Amino acid sequence: MRKKLIAANWKMYKTPEQSREFFRDFLPLVEGHERDEIVVCTPFIDLATSVEAARGSNVAVGAQNMHWEKEGAFTGEVSAAMLTAIGVAHVIIGHSERRQYFNETDDTVNLKLKAALEAGFVPIVCVGEVLEEREANLTDDVLRRQCLRAFHKVSAKKAASLVVAYEPVWAIGTGKTATPEIASDAHAIIRGEVTQSFGEEFANNLRILYGGSVKPDNAHALMTAEGIDGALVGGASLDPKAFAAIVNY
Ligand code: PGA
Repeated sequence: MRKKLIAANWKMYKTPEQSREFFRDFLPLVEGHERDEIVVCTPFIDLATSVEAARGSNVAVGAQNMHWEKEGAFTGEVSAAMLTAIGVAHVIIGHSERRQYFNETDDTVNLKLKAALEAGFVPIVCVGEVLEEREANLTDDVLRRQCLRAFHKVSAKKAASLVVAYEPVWAIGTGKTATPEIASDAHAIIRGEVTQSFGEEFANNLRILYGGSVKPDNAHALMTAEGIDGALVGGASLDPKAFAAIVNY
């Protein structure tokens, strides 16, 4: 049985003070919740406060990005060692907004994945097609290409902690959710590609999350659909009650 992972992606929302308030309100709502793993991925500036606020709880704090180099002249970037130093061990890699607005490519996703695994992180690698690709029946090709390139020269042994998130770009922040059937089909394609890259046993153990307009009222149907092992939640994760309702689907 794969334990589900429900992850919040706050994107560029909340100050440290607002993060503290979130944890104050959220933690009691999920206290003792063991069925699923819970991770809240905050902006860099909120990480230290959030780690402190979540200490001793069943909620882990993660980052939304990291650089692949250990250190260097990379103005504005954050390394794995910096994240480790403040108690962060989860990181989202290759979110579509980073691909779309910050020139992230399949190659940088690969570099970041390798660095994250090397640092002992749980990387959450995002893949997903845009609307035009879906309409042109290219979803299959896009997902396979994104996986193949992300996993280039990564070994199954090294990748044990890997998590993949299927995030159809047309469903992110749009209120349009993939139906459980659409999501299940995409997850099967991803699991198939992972089988090719890392073998069947690895693929059977891999957690594939769904992301894209997950809300309290659609969480149950999505989380109980075939092959869906959790959620990556944007907008609805900003509100402690809504995110708790999703965790408690
Ligand atoms: P959304 O975002 O839940 O607001 O659609 C999901 C994501 O981008 O991870």
